[in-house]
Amino acid sequence: MAIALRPVCRDDIDALEQIENRSFITDRISRRSFRRFIDQSIGDFQVLTVSGQVVGYYIVLYRQATQLARLYSLAVDPDHRRRGYGSQLLSAAEQDADDRHCLFMRLEVKVDNLGAQTMYHRAGYYDMEIRPEYYEDDSDALVLQKLLPRFEPHPAHNGTQRLVPYRTQTTEFTCGPASLLMAMAYFDIPTRDAHLEELEIWREATTIFMTSGHGGCGPHGLARAANKRGLQVSLHVSESGPLLLDSVRSDSKKQIMARIQEVDIAALTAEGVAIVVGDYSMQNLFDDLANGKLVVGLISTYVFDESKAPHWVLICAADENYVYINDPDQDTFPWQSPADRQYLPIPLATFKRAFGFGKRKQKAAVVLSRAGN
Ligand SMILES: CC(C)(COP(=O)(O)OP(=O)(O)OC[C@H]1O[C@@H](n2cnc3c(N)ncnc32)[C@H](O)[C@@H]1OP(=O)(O)O)[C@@H](O)C(=O)NCCC(=O)NCCS
Repeated sequence: MAIALRPVCRDDIDALEQIENRSFITDRISRRSFRRFIDQSIGDFQVLTVSGQVVGYYIVLYRQATQLARLYSLAVDPDHRRRGYGSQLLSAAEQDADDRHCLFMRLEVKVDNLGAQTMYHRAGYYDMEIRPEYYEDDSDALVLQKLLPRFEPHPAHNGTQRLVPYRTQTTEFTCGPASLLMAMAYFDIPTRDAHLEELEIWREATTIFMTSGHGGCGPHGLARAANKRGLQVSLHVSESGPLLLDSVRSDSKKQIMARIQEVDIAALTAEGVAIVVGDYSMQNLFDDLANGKLVVGLISTYVFDESKAPHWVLICAADENYVYINDPDQDTFPWQSPADRQYLPIPLATFKRAFGFGKRKQKAAVVLSRAGN
């Protein structure tokens, strides 16, 4: 029995219409629509054949300028279900979207279509929201989504490349310490109680104040905490002296923040930690990662969630399309699981916009490696 996937053609329309009528009660795709998709080569449209007979199909649509692909429809003829064809079509659809560098695949399914939902959940999709009265019969739709690109370890590593372990920050102000703890775990620096250590690093590196609530950590303090724990550190900052003061309105708070960063700078200098002032370029980042280093980098979350918060993440890898980060914050993309926040792919152009904080795009990168390297 030959099973094949191939692009749709006009001769498939009769079979597609039959599958459609046998698969959906409402919102069926009409012959006319199928013809339009085929004639105008809209999106990616493939059929699955068994011994030459069309038994299933999928259509993926794209919107220009978004990195979101939409699985517009997927169906398998009822006589051929539960043989893995639905899953095969789904992974081919994902591959198409991934080839076009889409970050997410999104789809809608009827809330009572539990069979299809099981298939999507098993393939790694998350429930996002319910869209009330979405279908022609007024039934509700469940919106599901999946993050598509995955970091591929370099083939030269023969499958032995160890991924940087992931850790979710336990408070809203400890993104820096959580990022540093992930790097410490990667470089085999033991911690007895990681939760306490996260708070301890924060006490050592906090800027005391920042936008509102507790201040997050500053680059100099984090570099000092990393050095104290036995990592090889070089700190790259876009300007000399204290950073992150621009968004602080109160002069007295500014003075305190400046004062403790000055103390950290003096301590780093005394400890012999390199502070490099200047632009830490994408090429610098690529070179450091290629040399086995990890980078705790300051990003602005504005491009992701339109809130202007400084945020530390651990930059773990990069390739020609994405920078992969371990994002310790579970609120940046709320629907994602911890597994999705490990090696989270950020398109290069997006990363460039996010790397740096505030109007002046102040940049800070704490570059880490094993001591002695
Ligand atoms: C959903 C659909 C595409 C699944 O096709 P399929 O070829 O049967 O899928 P698979 O054989 O790959 O099933 C994969 C897994 O999904 C789950 N699953 C699929 N159909 C199921 C059902 N009716 N009940 C419970 N679980 C189901 C099972 O876990 C299954 O694995 P298993 O067979 O090892 O238990 C098919 O039922 C269909 O065309 N339905 C009508 C159209 C539709 O609902 N499309 C999706 C919305 S766009």
